[in-house]
Amino acid sequence: MDSNCCAHFVHCSEVYAGMKAVVVENLKYRYPSTERLALSGVSFEVEQGEFIGIIGKNLAGKSTLCEALVGLVPHFYKGAYGGRVVVDGVEVLSSSVSELARHIGIVFQNPFTQITAAKLTVYEEVAFGLENLGFQREEMVKRIDYVLKLLGLYAYKDRNPFELSGGQMQRLAIASIIAMKPSIIVLDEPTSQLDPLGSEEVFKAVQSLSKEGITIIMVEQKMEKIAQYADKIILLHEGHLVDFGVPEEVFSRPDLESYGVEPPVFTSIAKKLGIKDNNTGLYPVTLEQMRRLMIGEPHRS
Ligand SMILES: Nc1ncnc2c1ncn2[C@@H]1O[C@H](COP(=O)(O)OP(=O)(O)OP(=O)(O)O)[C@@H](O)[C@H]1O
Ligand SMILES: [Mg+2]
Repeated sequence: MDSNCCAHFVHCSEVYAGMKAVVVENLKYRYPSTERLALSGVSFEVEQGEFIGIIGKNLAGKSTLCEALVGLVPHFYKGAYGGRVVVDGVEVLSSSVSELARHIGIVFQNPFTQITAAKLTVYEEVAFGLENLGFQREEMVKRIDYVLKLLGLYAYKDRNPFELSGGQMQRLAIASIIAMKPSIIVLDEPTSQLDPLGSEEVFKAVQSLSKEGITIIMVEQKMEKIAQYADKIILLHEGHLVDFGVPEEVFSRPDLESYGVEPPVFTSIAKKLGIKDNNTGLYPVTLEQMRRLMIGEPHRS
């Protein structure tokens, strides 16, 4: 046993007392053959069941951070890596991407690229990942029925995945990940290729996952939506974490636009009209919050 034994033991008992879903400590990362750090001293912690939004302008490091959470950084991309990332109690640096996939799943922007094209039906598409992991038939059926119902796809189970709408296809990609029962799901701009209806479907689906206690980490450009759904927001800029707080805090920053981010439209209106919570000095981020402030009710319910 090494000299860290006691420290390790203390850590283990803390784990049982209430393990964090994600711990990122001073994460630094540079892609191979590049000069600049894509992530520079990023630190934050996420509680189990929280819904975290990641915002920031182009090339801020949002996708790189997602890849660092699921282990693609550094295991797939290689490059220079420093600091520590722990997801669901598992150290990313010392675990393989497939080991990590049992704890944390990722959904990308384009629904087309995530469908295997090897399977004829929605049902088989979800079954595919589970078959690869060698699940018993009974457990597979239970999980597939559960995720298809949870994501509102049960009625489409016999359809060809490529006959689905964009929103349905993205929900299928999410269903295939959720069937593996990860406790954390990362979504990198999952609605950017979708029309407003498809986006709304995906947000509602993600919200239902959140209600099931799954930790959500979602990169999103639609500020009204992320302000409405997220418990907390990470603001990234040029690889640095500028802020990590409740949406009202982050979107009330007077320097927000200098990071290339526009606040939700309700926040902009409230700023112009001077409608804010006088106790906290923060502006509302949703229409409902604005309404409450205007009639003198507390900011948050
Ligand atoms: N595969 C790669 N190889 C080398 N450099 C990369 C690679 N992917 C990203 N980068 C660099 O890392 C930095 C962060 O990029 P990243 O894609 O994480 O930003 P982003 O916030 O997701 O941007 P976007 O809004 O365009 O999706 C940028 O400087 C980018 O050029
Ligand atoms: Mg990106």
